[in-house]
Amino acid sequence: MRNAAPIGVLDSGVGGLSVLRSIRAALPDETLLYCADSCYAPYGERKNSFITARTLGISRWLEAQHVKAIVVACNTATAHTLLILRERLKMPIIGVEPGIRIAALRSRTRVAGVLATTSTLKSERFNALLAQYSGDCRFICQHGRGLVEAIEVGDVSSPVVMQYLSACIQPILDSSADTLVLGCTHYSFLWNALCTITAKQLYIVDTHEAIASQLVRQLTKQRLLINTISATTHSKKRLASPTLRLISTGDALQLTRIAQKLIGVNIDAEHVKIASEPF
Ligand code: DGL
Repeated sequence: MRNAAPIGVLDSGVGGLSVLRSIRAALPDETLLYCADSCYAPYGERKNSFITARTLGISRWLEAQHVKAIVVACNTATAHTLLILRERLKMPIIGVEPGIRIAALRSRTRVAGVLATTSTLKSERFNALLAQYSGDCRFICQHGRGLVEAIEVGDVSSPVVMQYLSACIQPILDSSADTLVLGCTHYSFLWNALCTITAKQLYIVDTHEAIASQLVRQLTKQRLLINTISATTHSKKRLASPTLRLISTGDALQLTRIAQKLIGVNIDAEHVKIASEPF
């Protein structure tokens, strides 16, 4: 029974769809339940306590939908909430974090950039990651001001976005960096814009595939992967039931539209009101 349960994926908004896409590619037989906290996005400039209360509330809601694991597809929420979630929920909780270690291993100029939210860059978890893995590599950390708001409405290439992005990236390019770490799941959708702005001078480190692999490892270890033999036996039922549900705490129609644009899925998103959980 538990093996057939859905996997919950959450983010402040549409950024986690980049992780969801990799999970769908890695685990095509699993049912996924994606929750965008669009009513409260972006998280990046909010207080830690607010981010924690929202992430806990959404995770509780996913738990009530009987998910077998939760992927916190948000660097900001992971930075402040991962340990609390693991203490409070009895299921595998997979978080995301910027690929500092990969960048430090890979950079030849020994200078790399990180693009993340203000809240992630200020967090203890991110700073511990830098201290642990940066070694002799210097990291130029930039806040992606204005970017999440634009991506939330599906804008990944307008002149305004290009201008915001150039302003964030220029100090990184000026410092002879050869590598750029994407520390926010929303920014995956700026890949083309980044290639244009950097003229491919920067090797971009994005961890969505690594997160999907980590999820596969965890589910395998805990024997929680969907049983494909019994799934085939019930294939008629499975074909009739959706393998992906999209939930928004904000405008469901907007999530439907943006998910179609960003990852090409044609699914009517549902609106759900989810209370914060004080901690
Ligand atoms: N997608 C998120 C992250 O990875 C959150 C961005 C935001 O809400 O500011 O950090």
